[in-house]
Amino acid sequence: MRIPLIAGNWKMNGSLALIEDFGNAFSRTSFLSNAIDIAVIPPFLYLANADEAFEGTPVQIGAQTLYGEASGAFTGAVSASMLKEFGVHYVLVGHSERRTLFKEDDAAILAQARAAIDEGIVPILCVGETLEERDENRFDDVVLGQLDAVMKGLSEEQRRQLVVAYEPVWAIGTGRTATPEQAQEVHASLRARLRHYDENLADNMRLLYGGSMKPANAQELLSQADIDGGLIGGASLKPDDFIAICHAAG
Ligand code: G3P
Repeated sequence: MRIPLIAGNWKMNGSLALIEDFGNAFSRTSFLSNAIDIAVIPPFLYLANADEAFEGTPVQIGAQTLYGEASGAFTGAVSASMLKEFGVHYVLVGHSERRTLFKEDDAAILAQARAAIDEGIVPILCVGETLEERDENRFDDVVLGQLDAVMKGLSEEQRRQLVVAYEPVWAIGTGRTATPEQAQEVHASLRARLRHYDENLADNMRLLYGGSMKPANAQELLSQADIDGGLIGGASLKPDDFIAICHAAG
């Protein structure tokens, strides 16, 4: 019912050579079924190269962020229409690194999601609690609050375009993965909250897990009832690992 999505967030990593390696690896791979969506999300500068290198493969490209205004005096920023022109299919919004390092708040994240949807780009809304918030048992409130902050600002039609990624901050880049049960518990809460908006939307929205997902743990995480894919950081920088995770999902 929900097509799994495996997306590789390269963060500020990669090079032209790595794009080429991935292009070659994807062309050699037969993705056995087309019942999976795959995306690579490199830094902005490599988007055009990635689009070209992945041509003829099922892999689509995504961007790591965007600015929530259409155009204007916003030095250093990139708009949704610019991403669209370069064939971008997905864009991350609300990644915890953007929330903390770049001080992006719920209002900015909502503006980004709207701008992306207006251009037909799928926003992948990232939500997740810190270790402190988990230890204080506040993870549900935090994660559902981050979800509501965007959902409430979107129309019914806009909400249907969204993908959500649960990324517990304490599991990002730490090698410490949420157990399948911990991840499933939060995913189930997210889906239950989506039911307050619309039953159909809740059944159809893809909820990804992110946080130290790798070939060794992908299958178990991806087999959970409410986990519909992965947002991969470190393991998305190695073609063999990333492709192994894709196979675990497909
Ligand atoms: O967006 C992906 C991410 O934050 C997870 O990173 O390195 O823990 O897989 P990593």
